[in-house]
Amino acid sequence: MITKEAKIKNKHTKKIYFAKSARMTFSHILKNIFIDTDKKILMPAYIGETDAEGSGVFDPVRENCVPYDFYQIKKDLSADLEELKTKIASGNFIAMVIIHYFGFIQNDIIEIQSLCRKNNVILIEDCAHSFHSSLKGETIGSWGDLAFFSIHKIIATPDGGYFQINNQSVRVPEMIFMDNYLSSATFEEYIRTDYDMINRIRIQNYKRYLDNWKEIPGVIPLYSNLPDCIVPLNFPIIVQNGLREKLYFKLVDRGIVPISSYYRLIDEIDRELYSVSYELSSSILNLPVHQDTQSEDIDIILFHIKKSMQELNNNA
Ligand SMILES: Cc1ncc(COP(=O)(O)O)c(C=O)c1O
Repeated sequence: MITKEAKIKNKHTKKIYFAKSARMTFSHILKNIFIDTDKKILMPAYIGETDAEGSGVFDPVRENCVPYDFYQIKKDLSADLEELKTKIASGNFIAMVIIHYFGFIQNDIIEIQSLCRKNNVILIEDCAHSFHSSLKGETIGSWGDLAFFSIHKIIATPDGGYFQINNQSVRVPEMIFMDNYLSSATFEEYIRTDYDMINRIRIQNYKRYLDNWKEIPGVIPLYSNLPDCIVPLNFPIIVQNGLREKLYFKLVDRGIVPISSYYRLIDEIDRELYSVSYELSSSILNLPVHQDTQSEDIDIILFHIKKSMQELNNNA
């Protein structure tokens, strides 16, 4: 029969399940993958934590007593593919996590996807820093067997995260987080948000930093190019010569509050083995591009970075 309206439920829907936070959904994923296996999870060696928030990425690993190892990241936060290939092929891992730091789709995600498929390793994409970046028409979170996202990191809600199942053959069941469902206020805000607008603002803001960037001795953008269709979380910079902390406090004194992701790495990441991660952690500063940031704010931030660095360099 040709019906007058659509009747078939779940026909063109994604397998997306909401919770209060991304970490809760990651914990659900881990609980279900790590049953009857002595294999480990492979994580990037750049994961932070704070006293106030713990570690959004690593707390679920700790809580579920999941055995883990790390892979090296390079100075631009991409994975060291050669090392990754060896580790993935070792047979020691049941799953690996790729983090799309600051909304940038990391590495050759398509190559990593095929590596994982070839070696029967479950690919989990951590998309907590962006839900709309895309590459060659594919949206972030669509290459992994599973992906998880954080709502409250992108829009001004008190909570919110979700996970997505792309490959139904992985043994992670659909889950309605009854006791840990995101608040209805968050859900409404999530639905109401004009993402075309906020994505445009974030991209414009990022480009304004780049366009107005004048040589500042001792400071360089981590990514001096914004690839098409990347929606950034913030504008990461590298502050050289051990001046990051000092610059941070100078900016705070001038009414500008940047963040530093991640100024403290989890203790599980070995300082000697992963020295590149520690170097990055001690020099990174992340400037705002979020939708409340006006273009004039960026000019002010750049002015104060320049001025602060002049003072710091003069005192050095
Ligand atoms: C890369 C990354 N993944 C996951 C999370 C966890 O997100 P949520 O706070 O929604 O649990 C965070 C935030 O802490 C994060 O930075």
